[in-house]
Amino acid sequence: MKKRLLTGLQSSGTLHIGNYFGALKPFVDMYEEYDSVLMVADYHALTSLKDAPVLRENIFNVVKDYLAVGVDPSKVILFRQSDNPHHTELAWILNCQVTVPFLMQSHSYKDKISKGLEPNAGLFTYPMLMAADIALYDTDVVPVGEDQRQHLEYTREAVTKFNNAYGEGILKEPKELILKEVGVVPGTDGQKMSKSYGNTIPLFGTKDEIAKAVMSIVTDSSGEKPINVFAIHSLFRNEAELNTLYEERKGKYKNLKDALIEDIETLVAPMRERRDAITEDDVKKVLKEGAEKAIALSTLKMEQIRKAVGIAL
Ligand code: ADP
Ligand code: TRP
Repeated sequence: MKKRLLTGLQSSGTLHIGNYFGALKPFVDMYEEYDSVLMVADYHALTSLKDAPVLRENIFNVVKDYLAVGVDPSKVILFRQSDNPHHTELAWILNCQVTVPFLMQSHSYKDKISKGLEPNAGLFTYPMLMAADIALYDTDVVPVGEDQRQHLEYTREAVTKFNNAYGEGILKEPKELILKEVGVVPGTDGQKMSKSYGNTIPLFGTKDEIAKAVMSIVTDSSGEKPINVFAIHSLFRNEAELNTLYEERKGKYKNLKDALIEDIETLVAPMRERRDAITEDDVKKVLKEGAEKAIALSTLKMEQIRKAVGIAL
């Protein structure tokens, strides 16, 4: 039997190639080895987003992004959190297991309010909604970025408290799988590529948008090898090939950037084409089928939980 893998996606706006190599590609490379569940965390998004058209748009976008990079919906349960009412139901039960001082230690909560987000109760209890997402499906592994490590600790704590109160083994303890093999993809200025630094190369941009971003990569006029260009280029070609190319075109920065644009285009063009062909109806169909499968899976677990806590009459 394969292990169960589950991860949750919040739309992070327009994706860049750092997101691709750091999050989407590792998922695509790994999900078929597991019994995988991929959830659009729209109730999580609601903790900090009060713009309905934007939230709606984000839901479609994140599904399109994952389908375009190669996630096959027949090989994963791809669904939306708000389509399965068991998530909020279990979140409530888990909220009743943990204390306010415990939740107050959340780095992510403190971080978000220090950045000016409203400290609403949903944002505060967010870790228990995430714990419910995970525990509902008897999840073994949760692939996430480093920033989510504490949320997995919260999940294990909630699971342990629940099991201590109601019976060992009812909820399963999950493990995080922190994705870091790829390392940090540098942006056009050499710092970490991030949408908040304005140094990105868009993943689904047009060829012109990609070319413009590549041409803006900062190069040092004294050096022979443009290290920032080389660093990004090394994601697309092996080292030996790249060394030969950079030797042949030594000092010809424009020429090397053109080669990088072509290599990005070779990767991106088929994904862009696939993404453009996905309609809202396609997304709705995938999510509907995913919701049916997710609910079918969590129904038994939820019945067991209701019985354990004493609300099944
Ligand atoms: P941003 O920094 O652009 O806001 P996010 O924080 O939304 O990106 O990142 C979403 C995911 O993409 C993260 O979990 C992280 O693993 C990955 N990621 C983002 N930027 C990079 C990068 N420069 N290199 C590698 N992975 C990245
Ligand atoms: N909190 C995660 C993030 O911000 C998203 C998420 C919600 C999630 N539920 C999850 C991730 C369950 C993994 C498992 O990225």
